[in-house]
Amino acid sequence: MALVTVVDDAVQLATTSALRITTLIERAVAARESAAICLTGGRTPERLYDTLADERQPWRARIDWSRIHVFWGDERHVPPDHPDSNFGMAHRTLLSRVPIPHDQIHRIEAERPDAREAARSYAAEVRDRTFDVMLLGLGEDAHVASIFPGSPLIDERSVRVAAAWAPHLRAWRITLTPPALLDARAILMMTSGATKADAVRAALELPEDVMRYPAQILRRADDRAEWVIDRAAARSLAAPPAR
Ligand code: 6PG
Repeated sequence: MALVTVVDDAVQLATTSALRITTLIERAVAARESAAICLTGGRTPERLYDTLADERQPWRARIDWSRIHVFWGDERHVPPDHPDSNFGMAHRTLLSRVPIPHDQIHRIEAERPDAREAARSYAAEVRDRTFDVMLLGLGEDAHVASIFPGSPLIDERSVRVAAAWAPHLRAWRITLTPPALLDARAILMMTSGATKADAVRAALELPEDVMRYPAQILRRADDRAEWVIDRAAARSLAAPPAR
């Protein structure tokens, strides 16, 4: 059963998650001399990335940034300087402000004309990789990474990275698939706001229907999955977790 932590608001969501990520990084570096983190995109993590890079915060000095390898759970099919780029957002809010060696930043080359080619090359990059921290966000339709309701990728069992055409976005996405998303020592799902409340309930409480609620794949991770959600996002839970 996933651990669910409810916090007051988006600010506390960022600080609580930053502290948890710092602890997971320290543990990984102590055990393996490095830590592999897989970042998520969207709007929710922006404050977290900014908070992680904030020199006034205690974790900024606690983290040995030279030991960090950074990956992405998914990317929009756009170049890194495009406003929709998940890499671009992470670079702006975090990576340009902390001393992670350039060759340890493993971004998805989403500027490639063919999204499937970008997926193939990234599959080679993450082939044997077990992540220490897998950061995920949650869509209002209960999608995770770029695995949307009804996606054939939900049943994927071998390919670790795929290109997915998102008809509702009329756009390609490059995304890790369940085998790669779940190949992590800790999975941290962060979400906030009332618009996510139904998706949170679907993912945590409703009967299994993964094709309809892709976030339910986190149930396969058992206690490696942790949810940090704010009160607004927790409001539809039948059994609100202990705060
Ligand atoms: C992306 C993300 C996606 C995101 C959710 C939530 O590339 O958009 O990886 O899965 O986490 O859509 O997005 P928000 O945080 O913007 O609500």
